[in-house]
Amino acid sequence: MPDTLFFSFQLLSQSMYKIIRTLLFFFPPEKVHHFSMGVLKAVCSVGFLHKMFTSAFKAKVRPVTVAGLTFKNMVGLAAGFDKNAAYLRELEMLGFGAVEIGTVTPRPQPGNDKPRLFRLPEDKALINRMGFNNDGSEVVAERLKKWREQNPKGKLNYGQQSAVNSQLIIGGNIGKNKTTPNEQAYMDYDICFRRLCDYVDYFVVNVSSPNTPGLRELQEKESLRKILVHLQELRIETGVNLPIFLKIAPDLTNEQLDDVAALAVEIKLDGLVATNTTISRNNLSDAGKIRAGEIGDGGLSGLPVRERSTELVKYLRSKLGPQILIIASGGVFTSADAKEKLDAGAQLVQVYTGFIYEGPTIAKQIMQAF
Ligand code: FNR
Repeated sequence: MPDTLFFSFQLLSQSMYKIIRTLLFFFPPEKVHHFSMGVLKAVCSVGFLHKMFTSAFKAKVRPVTVAGLTFKNMVGLAAGFDKNAAYLRELEMLGFGAVEIGTVTPRPQPGNDKPRLFRLPEDKALINRMGFNNDGSEVVAERLKKWREQNPKGKLNYGQQSAVNSQLIIGGNIGKNKTTPNEQAYMDYDICFRRLCDYVDYFVVNVSSPNTPGLRELQEKESLRKILVHLQELRIETGVNLPIFLKIAPDLTNEQLDDVAALAVEIKLDGLVATNTTISRNNLSDAGKIRAGEIGDGGLSGLPVRERSTELVKYLRSKLGPQILIIASGGVFTSADAKEKLDAGAQLVQVYTGFIYEGPTIAKQIMQAF
């Protein structure tokens, strides 16, 4: 597509999204999620539209090689958006360098009662208490297997981007079922690892969601050690040498962060994802605070968590040294936000809430400044 046409398409799609967003925000967030992804799937199924959109949304290629993986750009989609690996083709079309699927649990589970996802537009934030609703590791593994068969890994040859070869990095974010007691949690991670290891490029151990009762207690040092060392041993047993990352909450104290960092260095963990959503309601506007009070429990994401997440990245980097990868997640909307995370010591960023507010050009927009 010629540059001018390309540029106008982007401007048009950005301003169009603002109008579309106003309409979509009249409807319940979870319904809008399924509806929008359904529309995108329909678009993607038409060959020439898929080609056209792929080229229009294509983000700048700036390969980042970390933990033995090469990401075509540093902008990934955070966990929770494509929990069941159902939209990989569509999300790759939108220019993301990586998609973190999940959180996947061993057995399927319905999650919490609806409504469980809420917008706070005045604060560019979301509150969710989804509770790991997902199809379970068996179904997700089957879906990923099919995806890999249909989209063999492509080489980083961006001059001739192929419609069938995929350069998308797929992360597998794994968790425990709600009914699994914490002492047995390591076995849930074991099951998910075994089921998904042939199809994902890296794993993220999620112990930081506020929506599974007791889960965050697993962030205590010895519980973490049990899970992470077990997975590292499983890597040797299975011969599947994938990087293992740990996703942490922004609500950890400095003492807890010190423990996490010391453990990461000690066991040579490949990386950290900082951060998940927060249970804090700080940094909300007055209207947001009232609304949050009405909504009740759940993890807050978006702009209000940005500063704290960056603070954690900076703190962790100072403790970890340069070796261990940090993927920054929390309040990334723009290139400036991404730059803030990189300056704090991250190598990659992820978006979720920013995607909802900024729209489908977010990866391309962020990458424009790099
Ligand atoms: C999430 N997030 C999340 N994280 C995770 O590890 N597993 C999950 O299943 C989910 N689910 C989920 C659902 C919804 C609706 C939201 C908004 C978020 C957290 C997400 O991946 C991310 O870390 C945080 O939202 C912070 O980033 P943003 O949203 O501020 O860019």
